[in-house]
Amino acid sequence: MKIKKAVIPAAGLGTRVLPASKAMPKEMLPIVDKPAIQYIVEEAVKSGIEDIMIITSRGKTTVEDHFDRAPELEERLLRAGKMEAYDEIVSISKLANISYIRQKETKGLGHAILCARAFVGNEPFAVLYGDDVILGDDPVCRQLCEAYETYGRGTVGIKQVSFEDIQKYSSMQIEPLTGNLYRIDDMVEKPRPEQIMSLYSILGRCVLPPEIFDILDHTPPGACGELQLTDAMKELARTQGMIGVDFVGTRYDMGNKLGILKAIVEVGLQHHEVGDSFREYLREVCRTL
Ligand code: UTP
Repeated sequence: MKIKKAVIPAAGLGTRVLPASKAMPKEMLPIVDKPAIQYIVEEAVKSGIEDIMIITSRGKTTVEDHFDRAPELEERLLRAGKMEAYDEIVSISKLANISYIRQKETKGLGHAILCARAFVGNEPFAVLYGDDVILGDDPVCRQLCEAYETYGRGTVGIKQVSFEDIQKYSSMQIEPLTGNLYRIDDMVEKPRPEQIMSLYSILGRCVLPPEIFDILDHTPPGACGELQLTDAMKELARTQGMIGVDFVGTRYDMGNKLGILKAIVEVGLQHHEVGDSFREYLREVCRTL
C-alpha cells in the first residue's frame, strides 16, 4: 500500500535550545535561509507524500504563516520585479496539502501522534520529527516508505550513535535482514547502560501502521513522565516485528545547539549564493584556531 500521509510533530517546548525557542518555534530556526521544517516538508513531498498534518501548540503560528500565502509580500516582490523571490515565496505555499492540529498540552511525542488519529484514519503513515533535518539525494522518508511497502511492517530510521548518546535516545534489538535493513524485535527509550541492546537508535523518521493508535491509547507515561512513541513502538516490535532502515543521509538535530551549528556550517558551504564567500571566511577563521 502506498504511503500518502505524513505527520510532523512540532509542538515540543524546545527547552534545549532556549532562549531561541522562547517565542519562536525551534522548528522555524533557519538553516542559512530556510526554516528547518521546510526542509522536512520538502523531504516528505519528494517521498511521494500528498497530505501532511503538522502538530503545533501555543506560540507556533509562524509555522502556519510560513506555509500560507503572503499577499502583501508577494505584491511587493511583483512590483519590484523580483520574480525569482516571488516564485520561491509562492511555491512554499503550494508544496503540499498541509493541515494543522494543536496539541493542547506537551505530554510527549506519543501524545502528539495521537492528536493525528482522525487525520490518519485506517492507513499507514509516515512520521517526520519536526526538529530532525535529514539531507541527502534519496529522501529518507522514501527509503522507509519503500521498506514498509515491501515488508508490510512498521519501519524506523536507525543509525549507530555513541555510548553516551544512546542513553539520551533509544536502543534497538536488531538482527541483520538484507543490505541496510534490520529486523527489530524490541527496543527501549532512554536506556540505562545495562539496558542497552545495541548502539542503533531511532533517529527522526518512522512509518507506522494505524494499529499504533490503539497501542498508544493504553501505553502509560514513560521516560520523563511523557507518553513516549518508542514505548508504543516497542509493543509493535514485540508483537509484529518492525524493520530498521540504516538510512543514507546526513542528519542534523535542530533540537540542540551543536546540531544547529553543524547544519548551518555544512549547508552554508554548499549554498549557491553565499557558499564560496563562506568557505573563504571559514578558512580565515580556521587559521586563528
Ligand atoms: P523532542 O523531545 O526532541 O522535543 O521531540 P522537545 O520536547 O521540544 O525537546 P526539549 O527536550 O524540550 O528540548 C521531538 C519532536 O517531537 C515534538 C517536538 O516538537 C519535536 O519536533 N514534540 C515533542 C511534540 O510535538 N509534542 C510533545 O509533547 C513533545
